[in-house]
Parts: sequence; C-alpha cells; structure tokens
Amino acid sequence: MTPDLQDLGAQRLAEHVDRSVSGQTASGGRNSGFARIAQDGEVDTTHGAILYLEDVSVSFDGFKAINKLSLDIAAGELRCIIGPNGAGKTTMMDIITGKTRPDEGSVFFGSTIDLLRYREADIAQMGIGRKFQKPTVFEHLTVFENLELALKTHKGVASSMFFKLGSGQSDRLAEVLHTIHLAGDLTRQAGTLSHGQKQWLEIGMLLMQDPKLLLLDEPVAGMTDEETARTAELFLSLKGKHSLMVVEHDMSFIKTISDIVTVLCDGSVLAQGTLEQVQADERVIEVYLGR
Ligand SMILES: Nc1ncnc2c1ncn2[C@@H]1O[C@H](COP(=O)(O)OP(=O)(O)OP(=O)(O)O)[C@@H](O)[C@H]1O
Ligand SMILES: [Mg+2]
Repeated sequence: MTPDLQDLGAQRLAEHVDRSVSGQTASGGRNSGFARIAQDGEVDTTHGAILYLEDVSVSFDGFKAINKLSLDIAAGELRCIIGPNGAGKTTMMDIITGKTRPDEGSVFFGSTIDLLRYREADIAQMGIGRKFQKPTVFEHLTVFENLELALKTHKGVASSMFFKLGSGQSDRLAEVLHTIHLAGDLTRQAGTLSHGQKQWLEIGMLLMQDPKLLLLDEPVAGMTDEETARTAELFLSLKGKHSLMVVEHDMSFIKTISDIVTVLCDGSVLAQGTLEQVQADERVIEVYLGR
C-alpha cells in the first residue's frame, strides 16, 4: 500500500465530513435553506448522501430479484457490497444506472435528482460511472487513445476529428494515467495489457469523465494478488473525491478497502456494519460466509 495515496483518500473524506458537520458544504450547506434546489447538473449532497434507494423492488417473471431494498451511500464514501450469488447486487446496479426499471420504490442521486425519471445515457452523463466485470477497452487502440476517446464520448463531441485536448484535459489525462499505474504504457496497445491493467484502463476511462459516483462490479475477479493489492490502493485513493460502490466476493480485498459493508440477500439488506460486525452476524454466516 502506498501510504500517501491512502492518506490522500482519507484526508479528502475527512474534509468532506468536516464541511458537512459545520454546514459549509461546497454547495452551500444546510444553512442555505431547506427549499434550496440544486443548480442544473449539480448533485445536492447537503443532507450527506449521494445515493438513496428506498423500498425498491423488481420482479422478473414473478421472481423478486430486488425486494423492498433501502440503502444510502454518503458522499465520498467507499461502500462495499457483498452477498451470495443471485442476491441482487448486479440488478441493484442495473436499477441505479437506468438499465432496469424497478416496479416500485425510489432512487435518488443526491437529495433532488430522481434517477427513475432518466434514461441510462442521461444517468451516465450526470456523473454515475459503471464498471462491468469484463473489461471493455478498445483493444486495437493505445492506452492514451482509449482515455482520449472516453473524454470525447462523454462530452458528446460529434466530430471527433476536430477534437483537441485542452490543456486542462491533458493534465487530467496525465493525472489519470498516473492514478491507474499506466503512465509508462501510454503508447501501448490496450490489447497487449494484462487482464488487471485492462481493468485499470477501464476505470481510467471512467475517471476521465470525472464521475461523482462509481459503481464497480467484481473489479478484482481474475486479477493476480499483486494486481488486487494495487487495485485496493487505487480505490482507497479515490474515496473522498468520488463516492464508490464496490461489489466483490474477494473477502481479503474487502478487508483492505472497507469501512461499511452491506450484505445483500434475496434482494434486500440482510446486515450492515464493519466487516468484523457482519462477519460475526449469524445470519450472514448462514447464507454467505459459511461456518
Ligand atoms: N434481466 C433479468 N431477467 C431475469 N432474471 C434476472 C435478470 N437479471 C437478474 N435476474 C435474476 O435476478 C437474481 C439476481 O441476480 P443478480 O445478477 O443481481 O445477482 P448478483 O447478486 O449480482 O449475483 P452474483 O454474485 O452471482 O453476480 C438472479 O436470480 C438472476 O437470475
Ligand atoms: Mg452480479
């Protein structure tokens, strides 16, 4: 673990919590009034949370994959989600990102944006980035070109031929390359990267869009131990600046990165707390961790 990266994440989170407590958030704070409406494109996290799910349910052919699920994530938090196969973890991400419509319940981004009113593409544009399990980088393009493309696609630049990186964007690209440990590989074809490096590149592509909330589904599956350790380091460096929801089955990885762990089972929250707390919970042992 690189202590400076870890400290940076912790420091950003502490700054955020500090501001929230004193009511001096970047967007005006609680003191600015109850009826305050977030400005266009702004996510209102003055009440502390960046994501709220309340009583969300969805059925597929009569089977309740998500069942009265309620959950919220604090701004800047790194939340881990664990639970048995079929618990509804991926389906929950499908609902947040607009891929699946729930039958009932509410899903809010900050306290004012009702995500159920938006399409998948709009939700991505608002600042919710999603990483699927399989890396989906453009194999024939270089690392640099993949990152550049992520920026173009996000900004909706119709004619990419005329797109030139501004100096701010070049700085951002350099910063992201460093963050994802690929600064020495920018001219390498993505297809030649290891599985872990491809995963980092895809995370980098999401970071180019400066997402407020990142949803990561089994990000370390198939990684070597060393790649897993570096990914833990990467996520710790992102928390505070971004909010993260990480679904994983790898318990040693969860142990390294987690603050609060939520256990999903049968489409709703079975338990929540520190990893130590949920690991000691009889119900969690029964359905997931085993004896
Ligand atoms: N589009 C769909 N149509 C029908 N059934 C679905 C659909 N999406 C998910 N399901 C079902 O919903 C349940 C929850 O699946 P989900 O993929 O969310 O579980 P998960 O917690 O991500 O599991 P895993 O740990 O194996 O990835 C499963 O029984 C799955 O078969
Ligand atoms: Mg899944």
